[in-house]
Amino acid sequence: MIPNGTLDLSADPGGIAQAADFLRQGLLVAFATETVYGLGGDARNGEAVASIYAAKGRPSFNPLIAHVASVGAAQRYVEWSDRAEALAAAFWPGPLTMVLPLRDEHGISPLVTAGLDTLAVRVPAHGTARSLLAAFDGPVAAPSANPSGQISPTTADHVRAGLDGRIAAILDDGPCGVGLESTIVGLAGEPSLLRPGGVALEQVETVLGTELHIHQAGDLLTAPGQLQSHYAPDAPVRLNAENRQGDEVLLGFGPVDCDLNLSEKGNLTEAAANLFSALHTLNATGRPIAVSPIPDQGLGAAINDRLRRAAAPRDS
Ligand code: TXA
Ligand code: MG
Repeated sequence: MIPNGTLDLSADPGGIAQAADFLRQGLLVAFATETVYGLGGDARNGEAVASIYAAKGRPSFNPLIAHVASVGAAQRYVEWSDRAEALAAAFWPGPLTMVLPLRDEHGISPLVTAGLDTLAVRVPAHGTARSLLAAFDGPVAAPSANPSGQISPTTADHVRAGLDGRIAAILDDGPCGVGLESTIVGLAGEPSLLRPGGVALEQVETVLGTELHIHQAGDLLTAPGQLQSHYAPDAPVRLNAENRQGDEVLLGFGPVDCDLNLSEKGNLTEAAANLFSALHTLNATGRPIAVSPIPDQGLGAAINDRLRRAAAPRDS
């Protein structure tokens, strides 16, 4: 909970400076974009990103879009390509999101990408969003600013109705123009449409000079099979482990004797922020992984969802 409640900021230089300051402190700010209101947090700050999932009550870690101020800013985080250049020239700033391979030394929290090696990036067109990104001068992870499973918000009142008391501020700039989320195009492999949205499929195909592979609405990243193939460590994973067996490395939670601890204090936000990098680190040991029990409340539900996928039997 935010002790003083959720602040209403107006979209003037003072409000924008205050919002950027909150982001720097790792706090969450909802802001208007041309599509829907986004729930923003510093994409480099794992705890800020964890608190986005917590505020939305998301039961799992879906990857988030990193919002940046310019093509130059996007190029700091993702591997650029001719196709990306063509789409950026045609549609940025605007309601188009591109999924591209992450660069080395990108600095983005793995909680933003949910452990994937690609990042969704977008340069919004909305004046206030752009001013905020310029003032903050960093990547802002922002899903739509609604509780999980509810309708995307297109006014500050919608945001307040869903998230009041759970975020630091709402940067109010009236209703959103597009009212439909951005179109998401995957460019890490064959060009594909990951989500229809504010830019029409045909327009994207015209610019690329090729047809897009079409995925069923919402399939790719929500299908457990897909997630497993991306997310599973090489070694077996054993959950609810009180201690090590055999050759296992123990991923701890709370005050336990272990090889790596998600949060010694037993803090779920800290644990979520550490989860993906911890799994990478332990996977690199080549030993089987045991994981301490993690309470299934709040962010614990998403952490356990992720861990269950990691522990699920493999197809091949
Ligand atoms: O218009 C919009 O895009 C709004 C505003 C706030 O910018 N944002 C938005 O974010 O709709 P969200 O989190 O509600 O939707 C992000 C979508 C998810 O469906 C997610 O699966 C997909 O983007 N996504 C993010 N990263 C991805 C990745 N690396 N690969 C594939 N899909 C990804
Ligand atoms: Mg959404």
